[in-house]
Amino acid sequence: MSSEPRADRPAYRPATIAVTSGRPAHEPDSPLNEPLTMASTYVAGGDVEYGRYGNPTWAAFETALGDLEGGRCLAFASGLAAVSTILDLVGQGAKVVAPRHAYLGTIGQIADLEARGRITAELVDITDTDAVVKACADAALVWLESPTNPALEVAEIAPIVTAAHEAGAYVVVDNTFATPLLQQPLSLDADLVVHSATKFIAGHSDVLLGAVVTQDDQLHDVLKKRRDMIGATPGTFETWLALRGLRTLHVRLERAQANAQELVRRLGEHPAVGEVRYPGFGAIISVVLAEGAMAADLLTRKTTLWVHATSLGGVESTFERRRRWKTEPATIPDGLVRMSVGIEDVDDLWDDLASALDDLVLPAG
Ligand SMILES: Cc1ncc(COP(=O)(O)O)c(C=O)c1O
Repeated sequence: MSSEPRADRPAYRPATIAVTSGRPAHEPDSPLNEPLTMASTYVAGGDVEYGRYGNPTWAAFETALGDLEGGRCLAFASGLAAVSTILDLVGQGAKVVAPRHAYLGTIGQIADLEARGRITAELVDITDTDAVVKACADAALVWLESPTNPALEVAEIAPIVTAAHEAGAYVVVDNTFATPLLQQPLSLDADLVVHSATKFIAGHSDVLLGAVVTQDDQLHDVLKKRRDMIGATPGTFETWLALRGLRTLHVRLERAQANAQELVRRLGEHPAVGEVRYPGFGAIISVVLAEGAMAADLLTRKTTLWVHATSLGGVESTFERRRRWKTEPATIPDGLVRMSVGIEDVDDLWDDLASALDDLVLPAG
């Protein structure tokens, strides 16, 4: 009951796929939306049998996200459940190449596996394509996250995939920040795409969910088997909510990105801001406060509209100083605030930010 390859898929554009894919057939009295099927078990004799092996609500979500990414999707209990299921496939002692500034939970899993002697790891600066290509030579798996969380570094995916494949390595791209609307790694020959669907895909800060997408049927089947075996399966209500969120992804992202681009311009002119990091697309901005960590902490306490909260990709604007997490690498500036721009009115967002930032500017002399 997971998504099947769909040779019959019409060549719709992404916004239409987001709205239509994974819906029930247009038949009299069939519901327009896939219903929430709460079932731990099914009548014996069919293909599924038990709730850990499949669910029609998961299948609808998997079809929609798979169609957007251009592959077959599997939903997982969380982004990190998807990450660990993939990392579990790496052979004993084999080498994983990963970004030094990837999401701290991903780096944490890789470090844990290395500490237990399961894998060897090489952390790289993913903006240095030559160095990444060199690191691929003896790798079994190349993990990319682009843009990275929270440094917002961007990888040149295509040449890295070529080098990795020449070395016989698989390539995973964590596409959480870009979403399939801004980047489709499978079209650049990456083997696997991973998502924290908790973020932009679900989009309303009320769900934990993960996903993996691939065009390789064998990889799909191996991952499904492992997901079902270890029970990293998604919650059905979470999957239903995420599918509901996915229906508006293009509209939300368009508005959030427009807001982000305007805020990047205004933030760059504010004297309290030392550096603005923005890859040119998407709805995440990282700013480094001129006066460092204390100013960053003050900023996150002084706003009324911006919410001080971790996570990102919701309709509401949130921000946090990332180094408040002890496991965030020391190469992330202490005063870096990661901002997840929502879909509110940009002038309200700016007024709230600007008044907090104005208070942080030290008087001259
Ligand atoms: C880029 C990225 N990948 C993976 C994850 C992990 O996803 P989840 O929190 O859904 O387990 C996160 C969470 O912040 C993330 O930002």
